[in-house]
Parts: sequence; C-alpha cells; structure tokens
Amino acid sequence: MERIYFDHAATTPMHPEAIAAYAEAAAQGPGNPSSLHAQGRAARSRLTAARDRLAGILRCDPAELVFTGGGTESDNAALYGAAWAQRRRDPRRVGIVTTAVEHHAVLNACRKLEAEGFELVVLPVDETGRVSTASAEAAIGETTAVVSVMWANNEVGTLQPVAEIGRLARERGAVMHVDAVQAFGYEAIDLGALPVDLLSLSAHKINGPQGVGALYIRKGTPFEPTARGGSQERNRRAGTENVAGIAAFAKAAELAAAQREERRAHAAAVRAALLEGLAERLGPDGFRVNGAADEDARIPHILNVSFPGISNETMLMNLDLSGVAASAGSACTAGSLQPSHVLTAMGLSNQICGSAIRFSFGLGNNEAEAEKTAKIIATIATRLRNR
Ligand SMILES: Cc1ncc(COP(=O)(O)O)c(C=O)c1O
Repeated sequence: MERIYFDHAATTPMHPEAIAAYAEAAAQGPGNPSSLHAQGRAARSRLTAARDRLAGILRCDPAELVFTGGGTESDNAALYGAAWAQRRRDPRRVGIVTTAVEHHAVLNACRKLEAEGFELVVLPVDETGRVSTASAEAAIGETTAVVSVMWANNEVGTLQPVAEIGRLARERGAVMHVDAVQAFGYEAIDLGALPVDLLSLSAHKINGPQGVGALYIRKGTPFEPTARGGSQERNRRAGTENVAGIAAFAKAAELAAAQREERRAHAAAVRAALLEGLAERLGPDGFRVNGAADEDARIPHILNVSFPGISNETMLMNLDLSGVAASAGSACTAGSLQPSHVLTAMGLSNQICGSAIRFSFGLGNNEAEAEKTAKIIATIATRLRNR
C-alpha cells in the first residue's frame, strides 16, 4: 500500500539535497570546529559557511545566530536566557507575557519561570486562535521582562501579529521572542525589519535534519546561556556543534527560501483539494474547519478539521490503517492524549476538540493524494457514523 504522509507539521522528509549536504560534510572526516588543527579548521569553515548562508536568508548578522539542538532548545534558551538576564539587570523586571496557544516548548518553559518567581500572563485568543494586539498592549508593562508570541500556530496554522506586539514590547523595554518554527519556509523572515530580539527555528520542519535548530539573538539583547560548558557559539550555547546537521540545515533553508512562493502555492493547492474533496463527499455538515479561514491569516500547509461524532483517536487509527498519516494536534499533545490546549483556548466544544485532525502538507505530496484521502475519510466516516 502506498502511504500518504500528511504530517509535515510534525516532521518533514529531508530534501535529497539536504541529505547530500549532510553526507558530504559527514564524509569529510573528523574535525571539531573548536580544534586548532587542519581538520578542526575545516569543520569550522563549514560551520561558518552554513552560518553565513542562514544569516543571508534571515537578513541578520551571522554572529547573531546560535545553532542549537532544535526548536525546543531554541525556545527554552530564549525564554530562560532573556528572563534571567532581564531580572539580573533590573530586579523589577519579572513579567513574562505569552499566549495560550504556544507550543509546549514555550508554555512549559514559561511555567518553569513562573515557579522560579516570574509573573506569568497568558493571553487569550479568539475563535480562530489569534491573539489581539490590544490584549498584549494591556499586558505588557514596565516590569515585563520577556514577551513570547509564536509566528504561526502548529495545530491550526493561524498567524499572530508578531510585528505589532514586538514593537509594543520593545517600546517598553521587554525582550521580544518569536517561535518561528512553523512559519519558516512559508513566511518571509526579514530580521533587518522585524522588531524582534529572539527568534527560534528548527531544521526538521523545513526538510532539514531532526535535532538541529537555530536561535537568533539580536545584538545587545540581554541573554544568559542555559547550557554551560565550552565557549562554543560565542559563549551562548556550550557543546560541540552538529556540523553535518548544520550544513544540511543551511541547504534546506536555502531551498525553502528560494522556493517559498512555490512551496506556498503547492501546499495551498493540496489543502484546497482535500477541502474540496471533503465538501463534496461529506457535505458542509460532515466536517468543520478549525482556525483562520482567510488565506492572509494563516500559513498554507496546515489544515485542522473536526469530524463531529468521531473521536480523533478512532479517525487517526482508521486513517493509519488505510495508509494516511495525520495527527491530532501537535505530536506531543497527541502522544499524551490530552485535549488540545490550542483548540480549548479557541473556545471550541469538547466534541469539536475531541474529533479534530491536523493534516499538514509539503514536499512529495500532490493533489491526487488529497482527493484519495477525502475518499478514504468519507468511507471511514460513513462506516463509523452508521455503526
Ligand atoms: C511551533 C513549534 N515550536 C517548537 C517546536 C519544537 O521543535 P523541535 O521539534 O525541533 O524541538 C515545534 C515542533 O513541533 C513547533 O511546531
């Protein structure tokens, strides 16, 4: 059975050119970028080249980029790093402002900071999953240390007003962090123009390798490293860099940036084909789309749909048996079988939350797969609803 992979928001297949870049760097032999010998210098130059290329794409200074072990580490490092440094500079700065729909990498780091004595404000969202600039404006004050708002939500795809909130945060002396893990590759990121201080990225969401990420730290941003050890990454993240993984990340980022418009159009077409197929086979009452409807208000590669009356576990299991890989909310939320905190924050009923499936599209997908999936879903839904 040919399988259909509609779970690109969980992880993506590596691009063949990223695999080649990884293999080429790994095949160069040993070399620690911190070593002074020839092999070490060769590894350092591969690392420098990758950093320069990523900085060119993001329009920042290469020295402002720190390579990490993925999106979660970037989010954690950003929050702890900025919160601790802000409080050290000014003990009154103990406020953390975030949103109810952040990834757990942000939310759980915020809760840890709260347990350390920081004051946490979690902003609500509307029924599309969007936070209002007005609520952020009311929450950010002279004692706010860090504001963390995601660019695009990983469960429903809704975009947040990060530039507007960033402007407010920085006006008030707070550090602005943006989790751009899902937006990267679909939204243009110009750090020269964007009012943010810290920005998290992950390679495996853009057809790069798992376990590699980056944290942008704007020059002058108060920051204390979480990982202590060697002086790698200009003392901001200790530990030997994953040189081959970083080389592959840079390649994947280059491809994603160069092909951004095509990626957007391709994902939008597959998404539209699935929606069309569902409408045709299930009718308007057979399913419900969760999240922003307007194209400008969401990223194109995520579609969150509820099938009322069918639990997401049952639907996912049946889809899997039929060869379709999808997910219920974020991978970790699905693993823990908790109701999605994102859909709950959007005020959706238990029935809608409990029957929500996330389909996410990318490299290797096509519209025929979407049509086939709609047909499979209709068969499953009819069978289950008639039981
Ligand atoms: C919005 C968002 N932030 C952070 C992460 C964590 O990234 P990683 O899997 O690289 O640790 C994810 C992964 O699902 C994500 O979607």
